[in-house]
Amino acid sequence: MNAILVASNRGPVSFTLSEDGSLSMRRGGGGLVSGLAEVARDLNMLWVCAALSDGDRGAARLAPGGRLDHAGYDTGAVRMLDIPPTIFHRAYNAVANSTLWFVNHLLYDTPNRPQFDARFGREWESYQAYNEAFAMALAEEAGHGARVMVQDYHLSLVPAMLRGERPDLRVAHFSHTPWAPPEYFNLLPDDVGIELLEGILGADHAGFLTARWAGAFMDCCEAVLGAGVDRVGRTVTHGGRTTRIGVHGLGVDGDALWARAREPDVESHMTALRDQVGDRRLIVRIDRTELSKNIVRGLAAYREFLSAHPEWHGRVVHLAFAYPSRHDLPEYREYTAAVQRCAQEIEDEYATEDWAPVILNVHDDYPRSLAAYRLADVLLVNPIRDGMNLVAKEGPVLSPNSALVLSREAGAAAELGEHALLVNPYDVSATAAALHAGLVMPEAERARRGALLAAAATALPPHRWFSDQLAALK
Ligand code: G6P
Repeated sequence: MNAILVASNRGPVSFTLSEDGSLSMRRGGGGLVSGLAEVARDLNMLWVCAALSDGDRGAARLAPGGRLDHAGYDTGAVRMLDIPPTIFHRAYNAVANSTLWFVNHLLYDTPNRPQFDARFGREWESYQAYNEAFAMALAEEAGHGARVMVQDYHLSLVPAMLRGERPDLRVAHFSHTPWAPPEYFNLLPDDVGIELLEGILGADHAGFLTARWAGAFMDCCEAVLGAGVDRVGRTVTHGGRTTRIGVHGLGVDGDALWARAREPDVESHMTALRDQVGDRRLIVRIDRTELSKNIVRGLAAYREFLSAHPEWHGRVVHLAFAYPSRHDLPEYREYTAAVQRCAQEIEDEYATEDWAPVILNVHDDYPRSLAAYRLADVLLVNPIRDGMNLVAKEGPVLSPNSALVLSREAGAAAELGEHALLVNPYDVSATAAALHAGLVMPEAERARRGALLAAAATALPPHRWFSDQLAALK
């Protein structure tokens, strides 16, 4: 039985099934997995996640109860849940990613969306069943009085379900996304909104990345549930129970990031990139191809900058990484095409024989993106809305002499805003002006701001983020 459990849709490892039937394992990227690995080694921790691929399902079936005990990885034991594909698809794609993600990122500007009809009714039932599968597995695995850390919008119902099964457990929920203000949250059908809020309030501790998202959650609890909210002491009381609301910013582990960014594969990407762009200045962005990341307006801003500043033609390159993401959803496939179209238009308008104004990378290439960070002169991070945004934190660590153009709607702006060039993400002209300001910023000023940005970015490394929440559950 385990004393500490983590639950998330995407787990710390994934398996690939080769043609000969063998399985190979890969550790997931990202600060959270690396940060928790450090903690997991010392604690008797179990990570419960969904099997996301054929390889994962194969691995889960081979292991008794789907539990993979320390099979050569450093993230503690893992239990992968083999959830029936239709239930998984409706819960993950239709509810979590097309509905909850869209509401929390204010992404509704498409005609006829959102629409809640009979189909959504079935999708919502699947979301309930998927949350139930997690709650049951956690209830089965947790030792008496164990602490359970439930992650993100995929698993909003788990805390209340788990409390029903195992009132002895101490449960935390953490939202890695923004939280919508009540007028947006109310787009959801009444019963769905109530169940989501009451689901999270089943936890003893509900965590958010910034005070702004925690405040929006408390506003929703008050407006939708009529809950008692103490904004100063940060508690929500509803149905006779009180849930503490925590603000836990998440930063990067600078040493671990640098250790990876100095490896030979990154160094050779740096050499290759330098060969490709020469001594031109670099504006870098690194994102999943995600609607909330606002890549199209970012490219429009670069285009406007080129139009306003012909003196920079031939002297600057925009290196844009837009990794594939959530391609089961048509909106994401269309967005990927729109990003490619915009980059092509800039190319058509400005490219010369020896100058490619924009280099778009659409394949996942982590070492190449680390190389890009290290070479950046300006880092562009302009999401419409973002829970935190770790690119805004990784960049200044790896390139302390670069300028950061940062959306004021990213959670990271709360910690970095003072030293970044803050922009309204909808304002393409202001973003273009900020790109220019970043390029012409005197070297000493960039270094001064860069040092402050790097210090703020590393102030709350993942292991601290996790141990603070564990402590809050004691
Ligand atoms: C966001 C979410 C995470 C999620 C990640 C990647 O950061 O908060 O929970 O894992 O996006 O999205 P994906 O759908 O590929 O897991």
